[in-house]
Amino acid sequence: MLGVIGFGNMGSSFVKRLHKDYKISVYDKDKSKLLNSEGLSFEAKDSLEELLEVSETLLLCVKPKDALDVLKSLSSWQGTIISCVAGLEIAKIQRFVKARVVRIMPNLAVSVGLGSIAVCGDVSEDVRRMLSRCGEVFELEEGLFDAFTAIAGSGPAFFYKFLQGMVLGGVYLGMSKESALKVSLQSILGACELLKNNGSLEELIFKVSSPGGTTIEGIKLLEEKAFCGIVLECIAKTAQKSKLLSTL
Ligand SMILES: NC(=O)c1ccc[n+]([C@@H]2O[C@H](COP(=O)([O-])OP(=O)(O)OC[C@H]3O[C@@H](n4cnc5c(N)ncnc54)[C@H](OP(=O)(O)O)[C@@H]3O)[C@@H](O)[C@H]2O)c1
Repeated sequence: MLGVIGFGNMGSSFVKRLHKDYKISVYDKDKSKLLNSEGLSFEAKDSLEELLEVSETLLLCVKPKDALDVLKSLSSWQGTIISCVAGLEIAKIQRFVKARVVRIMPNLAVSVGLGSIAVCGDVSEDVRRMLSRCGEVFELEEGLFDAFTAIAGSGPAFFYKFLQGMVLGGVYLGMSKESALKVSLQSILGACELLKNNGSLEELIFKVSSPGGTTIEGIKLLEEKAFCGIVLECIAKTAQKSKLLSTL
């Protein structure tokens, strides 16, 4: 039985993806969170103790500020704890528990099976298989979790900002907002698929940029405004903040 502690954004995203294939129990101290669970099959438990009794694996999905209190209650529990708590290092978790510990960093796309999930720690084949149902699993050394958080966790928001710029551009040129969004999104989906299948970034950029043509005109402006440098710095700053928060 998979026991989920915390049924907020992350806990519910995992349950949405896994409830058809896994037996799941859930405990959230705020019972009202469980009201948004129509169509999902799981057992709701009234207390953490009840959840611990039936679970072999726990998915810890509470905010960092609540995590230590929960861990203190898990001190004698035996099983596997999968923690998705941002910034909470394995060594720190192990100070509180005897259980096997896996640390993950997922993103919300796990609910549709398209998550990016970093894992480190004592990862069994069963845990790897379960996480694979939710997206692509990246085995990563713990020291790179802040970088992963910046790219996979915050990256979607940065991408949405880029998309917003494209939509604004379309509207500026007379397209409707809806149509500009649809066209931008489809173009980006196609571009990602090409890249995933066989492309290299370099090759694809030059394939689209004919000499003296339209694309290179736009790229010239991006280069002049140091677009890549800004994005690089944005990722570096985000990772730095992630590291800072984990030391608080
Ligand atoms: N959201 C993301 O995109 C994302 C991505 C990667 C990692 N994470 C990590 O995932 C964790 C959860 O994030 P979230 O966005 O899902 O947070 P959330 O939406 O606030 O969900 C956490 C839930 O846990 C409940 N809770 C708090 N203390 C509890 C306890 N002692 N026992 C049982 N339930 C308890 C909270 O209730 P109350 O609201 O009453 O406190 C809330 O319903 C965080 O540590 C975060 O760093 C999140």
